[in-house]
Amino acid sequence: MRRPVIAGNWKMYKTQEETRAFFEAFKPLVPATPECDIVVAPPFISLAIASAAAHGSPIMIAAQNAHWEREGAFTGEISMRMITDAGGKAVLIGHSERRQYFGETDESVNRKVKAALEAKLTPIVCVGESLAQRESHLTHSILKRQFEGGLDALTEHEFSRILLAYEPVWAIGTGKTATPEMAADAHRYLRELAATVFSPSQAAGIRILYGGSVKPDNIKGLMAQAEIDGALVGGASLDAKSFAAIVNF
Ligand code: PGA
Repeated sequence: MRRPVIAGNWKMYKTQEETRAFFEAFKPLVPATPECDIVVAPPFISLAIASAAAHGSPIMIAAQNAHWEREGAFTGEISMRMITDAGGKAVLIGHSERRQYFGETDESVNRKVKAALEAKLTPIVCVGESLAQRESHLTHSILKRQFEGGLDALTEHEFSRILLAYEPVWAIGTGKTATPEMAADAHRYLRELAATVFSPSQAAGIRILYGGSVKPDNIKGLMAQAEIDGALVGGASLDAKSFAAIVNF
């Protein structure tokens, strides 16, 4: 059985004060031993505050991005080690907004995945097609390219330490969720890729999260699909009550 993961991606929302307030409200709403892994990814500047606020709870803190180099003259960047230093345990890599607005490629994703693993962080690797790609029946070929490029040259053991997130770009922040069947189809395909590139046992073990307009009222239907192992939640993770409702699906 794969343990579900519910992760919140705050994007560029919440100040430090708002971060504290979120955890104060959120912690009492989730059980001490929940039935899923819980992840919250605040902006960099609130990582340490979030880690301190989550201390002693089952909530794991993640960053939304990081650079692959250990250190250096890279103005405005944050390293994997800085994330662990601030209490982070995981890092989102290759979110579609990073690919779309900040020029991230499968190659940069690959470097970041390796750097995260080396720093003992859990990479949450995001893949997904745009609307135009889906309408041109390119979904599988895009997923294949992102999977093979982003995870190139990983060992089976390294692969076993990552989480995958399938996020169709057209479903992010639009209120349009993929139907549970559409999501399950993409997850099934990603699992097939995992079997081919790594091994059938790796494919059986990899946890694949769905992301794109996940809300309290659609989480149950998504999680009813055996292929869907969790959710990466944007907008609905900003409110303690709605995120708790998703976590407690
Ligand atoms: P959304 O974002 O839930 O607001 O659609 C999901 C994501 O981008 O991770």
